[in-house]
Amino acid sequence: MSWRAMAPGDLADVDGIAARLHPNYPEDRRVFAERLRLHPDGCRVLLAAGAWIAGYVLSHPWQLGRPPALNVLIGSIPSPASTYYIHDLALLPEARGSGSATVIVEELIRHARALGLTSLSLIAVNGSTPFWERQGFAVDKAAAATDPTGSYGGDANLMLLRLA
Ligand SMILES: CC(C)(COP(=O)(O)OP(=O)(O)OC[C@H]1O[C@@H](n2cnc3c(N)ncnc32)[C@H](O)[C@@H]1OP(=O)(O)O)[C@@H](O)C(=O)NCCC(=O)NCCS
Repeated sequence: MSWRAMAPGDLADVDGIAARLHPNYPEDRRVFAERLRLHPDGCRVLLAAGAWIAGYVLSHPWQLGRPPALNVLIGSIPSPASTYYIHDLALLPEARGSGSATVIVEELIRHARALGLTSLSLIAVNGSTPFWERQGFAVDKAAAATDPTGSYGGDANLMLLRLA
C-alpha cells in the first residue's frame, strides 16, 4: 500500500469512505473539496494493491486551540498559522494494521516542521485516542473543553503533539 497526493477526481471515493466510517460525523463533499483546494499538500489517499483507494487524510495549517466545527467551510488558511491540524485520517478496515496510518502521520509531522509549525492537533473520535497516543499525541488538558467546537459529541478528545 502507498500514499499519493489526493486529486479532485478522488473526492467521490473519499466521500464514500467517510460516509461508511463516520456515520455519526457527516460532512458534505464540499468540505473535503475545500480542504483539498486550500492545502493540497496535506491531502493524500492510500492506494491498496490494485490501486483502489483504501483510505485518506485531510490536514492543513490552522489556529491552535480553535479546531473547525464539523462540516463547516473554513474559507482560508490563517497566516500565520499556529498549529498543523489533522482534519481526518481514515482507513477502510481491510487497510488497517499495516502501519500505513503511522507512515502518513510521520509524514505529516515532517510536513508541519517544514512549515515552521510547532505543534499538530486534532479531534480524536471513534475511540481513536489510543492510536493517536501511540503517535505521540496527548489529550490537550490545557484546553477549556475536550471538543471546543461542541459539534463532535461525547467521545471526542482534542489532542496535541508539541514538536521539540
Ligand atoms: C485510527 C486508524 C486510522 C488507525 O489505523 P491503523 O491501520 O489501525 O493504524 P496502524 O496500523 O498504523 O497502527 C499503529 C499502532 O496503533 C495501534 N492502534 C490503532 N488503532 C488503535 C486503537 N483504536 N486503540 C489502540 N491502539 C490502536 C495499533 O495496534 C498499532 O500499534 P503497534 O505500533 O504497536 O503495532 C483507523 O483505525 C481508522 O481509520 N479508523 C476509522 C476512522 C477514524 O476514526 N479515524 C480517526 C479520526 S480522528
